[in-house]
Amino acid sequence: MSISKKSIQQVLETAQIEDVVGEFVHLKKSGPRLKGLCPFHNEKTPSFTVTPSHNMFKCFGCGVGGDSVTFLKEHEKFTFIESIEWLAQKYGITLEKVVYSDEQQQKYKEEESLYIVNDFAQAYFVKQLNDTEEGRNIALQYFKERGYRDDIIEKFGLGYTSSAKDGFIQVAINKGFKLESLKQLGLVSSSSGNDFFRNRVMFPIKSISGKVIAFAGRIMGQNKKAPKYINSPETEIYLKSKVVYGIYEAKKAIRKEDECLLVEGYTDVISLHQNGIENVVASSGTALTIQQLQLIKRNTPNLKIIYDGDAAGVNAALRGLDLALEQDLNVKIVMLPDGDDPDSFIKKVGATVFRTFIEEKADDFIFFKLRLLEADADTPVKKTAMIKDIISSIGRIPDPLKRNLYIKECAQRLQVDEQILIGETNKAVKEVLIQQQKETARIERAAQQERAKKRAESGLPHDPSLPLEPPPFFEEGEPAPMDGGFPREAAKTVSPKHNHEREIIRVLMQHGDQQLKTEEMSVAQYVIEKIGSYFDEFEHKDYKAMALYCRELVKKGKPVNFKQLASHEEDVFREIALDFGMPKWSISPNWEKKGIPLRTQPDIEQNFRQDAMKEVKYLMLAWLKKVSKQNMEKYKDLDVEDSESMMKYLKIHTKIQEAETALAKELNQVIL
Ligand code: GTP
Ligand code: MN
Repeated sequence: MSISKKSIQQVLETAQIEDVVGEFVHLKKSGPRLKGLCPFHNEKTPSFTVTPSHNMFKCFGCGVGGDSVTFLKEHEKFTFIESIEWLAQKYGITLEKVVYSDEQQQKYKEEESLYIVNDFAQAYFVKQLNDTEEGRNIALQYFKERGYRDDIIEKFGLGYTSSAKDGFIQVAINKGFKLESLKQLGLVSSSSGNDFFRNRVMFPIKSISGKVIAFAGRIMGQNKKAPKYINSPETEIYLKSKVVYGIYEAKKAIRKEDECLLVEGYTDVISLHQNGIENVVASSGTALTIQQLQLIKRNTPNLKIIYDGDAAGVNAALRGLDLALEQDLNVKIVMLPDGDDPDSFIKKVGATVFRTFIEEKADDFIFFKLRLLEADADTPVKKTAMIKDIISSIGRIPDPLKRNLYIKECAQRLQVDEQILIGETNKAVKEVLIQQQKETARIERAAQQERAKKRAESGLPHDPSLPLEPPPFFEEGEPAPMDGGFPREAAKTVSPKHNHEREIIRVLMQHGDQQLKTEEMSVAQYVIEKIGSYFDEFEHKDYKAMALYCRELVKKGKPVNFKQLASHEEDVFREIALDFGMPKWSISPNWEKKGIPLRTQPDIEQNFRQDAMKEVKYLMLAWLKKVSKQNMEKYKDLDVEDSESMMKYLKIHTKIQEAETALAKELNQVIL
């Protein structure tokens, strides 16, 4: 199932940027715009700007900008579809679903169907808990004994599954679900063919947007032989390393409190919620991964880790926390009294004491580590090793100011010369940077391959010479002016050598589907016919991708226009379309310079044939001249022995010349 283009368009047209951003950022009116503190970077004075008239936002501090969907993707980490769904709900729009028949849609459908199966399983487990005698007597009883309130049981979607071998399988198959999908999700054991979760209380694991992506099942009571918890296996929709338990229920509170508490267990999260502490997630007993830390970081930079009082191997855990420092998180550590975990501790002392305890006992991670190591450093050799260890942690903190504060404090506590510590830390920083660079490159490579795969599957045209990932749309460049209209155009510095390319894209966006009377075709068809075969020569990556895509559309007989592309799933395409498609920007600055009078939109359409078309022709001609020149340069560089290539370039040259001549004729220009 997928959302129809029409619905997507409707949502995009309805969504008001100030409403959408306003849900997450406190905005104040400032002239025709609104301003607030940027949610994407730390700032004290607002440079985050929302321009209702353009339905866009932009931060002049960090450069992020775009429409409502871009905002939701960045801020909520939604996918395009999730953003559309969110907006639709906000504005009460009913989304029209369409079923595509081709293969890619099949894949999407499969993923969607995995969620549907999980939703079904979730409802089944809840029903088993509440609507069966066994569930009420055994499982609900178990929860009650642990002191969980009904509203909390409901909030976390807790459930129950009986000890029957195939209780779930039967119901699911009856409902028409395929055994294959049940196995795929780990709800049915592939080896035994039975229900995977049996005789357990169930905890659904949700994504940040609240979708059930996996389950954990706990045995009730104690059993030395069976594992206390079993979890769904990793699936397409459940990557353990990217999930923290409770993030969906916690995210609002995390942002509000500007702090995230991290505990170990599912039941810790639930207990704290029940006691009104909602900014809490669980690592589920494993070492934190970078992706999990980033998920937290997107909501707050302040992380407080609450360790069980009997936490074995705190040292091992500490090593993992260097990752958190690298993410520039402010990490604090709280050790609970011996023998307690957050669940048992808060039950014992109540919410108020608990709050005070974690407030007062929170130790800065570096100092916590220092104290731990200090206790052990009774020989000079051990002390040296300890200092090295601390320095390698400090070296991971990206903020130099913060680093310096720690160095000062450590120098004092350890009675080591500050200068020596600074020197050593700087070495460590460099080392860390090198490591990170390598890691980034590795991740980037993997992501590129993934994108290439997706692109190939999505059927987008892909030229092997085209870099897989377009550069960020807002390139670094001159600072954008704060006054005089929405500064997208200025914020984006397009090198003059890409002017022609930009203008061609602009023509396609604004006039692509207008009919040309004399040629009996659309502007897009005309442009593609004349110069479409040279689009591969575009230098600007984004424009090239866009040009090739438009060419593909024309080939398929589909219209090329701003509206179509403004609702495209690909960010780049949407960005470009929005950039050029808006009536405000319909007029090329070049046309203005050349004294072509500015007109309103209806006028442009009326007069399009008369002078704009001429402009298009000039544009194409200039562009062809450039391509022709480039082609000849390549030709000159060829090895004389390489006759095959020489022939190829000469052929291209001839073709370009033909196109040039044809255009020149139309413009009554003589080509020499
Ligand atoms: P309760 O004992 O019911 O309070 O659960 P807990 O969440 O406090 O469990 P505990 O502190 O023992 O473990 C912390 C977390 O580690 C759990 O929430 C699970 O995520 C994970 N965990 C614990 N035991 C197991 C196990 O046997 N298997 C797996 N896969 N995970 C476990
Ligand atoms: Mn516990």
